[in-house]
Amino acid sequence: MYPSLVALENSLGKSVLTQIHDPFLESKAVELWIKRDDLLHPVISGNKWRKLKYNLDDALSKDVDTLISMGGAYSNHLHALAFVGKTLKLKTIGIIRGEHPTPLTPTLQDMENWRMKLRFVTRSEYRLLRNHKHWQDLPGIKLNQYWLPEGGANPLALKGVGEIVDEIDISYDVLCVACGTGTTLAGLIRKAPKQKTVLGFAALNKARYLESDVKSQLIINCHNWEIFHDYHFGGFAKLNSKLALFINDFEAKTSVPLEPVYTGKMLYGIYDLIIQGRFKPGQRIVAIHTGGLQGKRGYL
Ligand SMILES: Cc1ncc(COP(=O)(O)O)c(C=O)c1O
Repeated sequence: MYPSLVALENSLGKSVLTQIHDPFLESKAVELWIKRDDLLHPVISGNKWRKLKYNLDDALSKDVDTLISMGGAYSNHLHALAFVGKTLKLKTIGIIRGEHPTPLTPTLQDMENWRMKLRFVTRSEYRLLRNHKHWQDLPGIKLNQYWLPEGGANPLALKGVGEIVDEIDISYDVLCVACGTGTTLAGLIRKAPKQKTVLGFAALNKARYLESDVKSQLIINCHNWEIFHDYHFGGFAKLNSKLALFINDFEAKTSVPLEPVYTGKMLYGIYDLIIQGRFKPGQRIVAIHTGGLQGKRGYL
């Protein structure tokens, strides 16, 4: 790996495994642990670092000076990319879905402060950009520029995500993660031993395409995974008082911070599945905290 990237990785915090102590879990005889990837860094946290790591190494090996990607006005991915660009002294361009908001969202404001160039495109233009996956695939891209698809979702991201599994040094039965594009889930399924169950929690409504998207990223066909579609609370980034209450209560009990877009919904789902008796007594669940806490600004 490139020395500047090794230095960045060495500067990151430690992703510890924390057991959640809660009388409810004890009453169900189920153990819940959280892999705290949110502790890696306040900005390049969680799956952002995992997905960017090998992409950045690839970009540096190609001697580019500019990273380009796409996302929404609250995108954790673009936020992390802008920060990493500033740190590695690479220029960054963010293609943003929809109109320029006034004022800028806190996420966009940070990105601009970190000197990312923001380009706003219509929703239909944005949809078309999803077809471009390869680093030189974007129409009009120059040789000194490196394109990352939405959410950094590509094979190099899967490699980085797999390292989360390598770091889990306790025995466990079930792995859980929130799903946007499903890339993080696919990376976990590829790496987890096949006797483990891997569960995804969709953060978006009407996301049934996720099953085929995830399947297409697997090397071998396996059946030890499932995606739950009932915990999106009305759609992407939607929040109601029930979810807000759950998050506040969980944070007060455990001191583990959550955000309402991904990790709050995943943990709500896990608790609901425990209530439904989905996990056997004695089972140990490891939930991946994928970070994204910056997205909480303006929410809770
Ligand atoms: C904090 C957080 N958690 C989970 C996800 C979902 O990841 P994926 O798109 O790989 O499914 C995202 C989106 O990238 C995210 O920002």
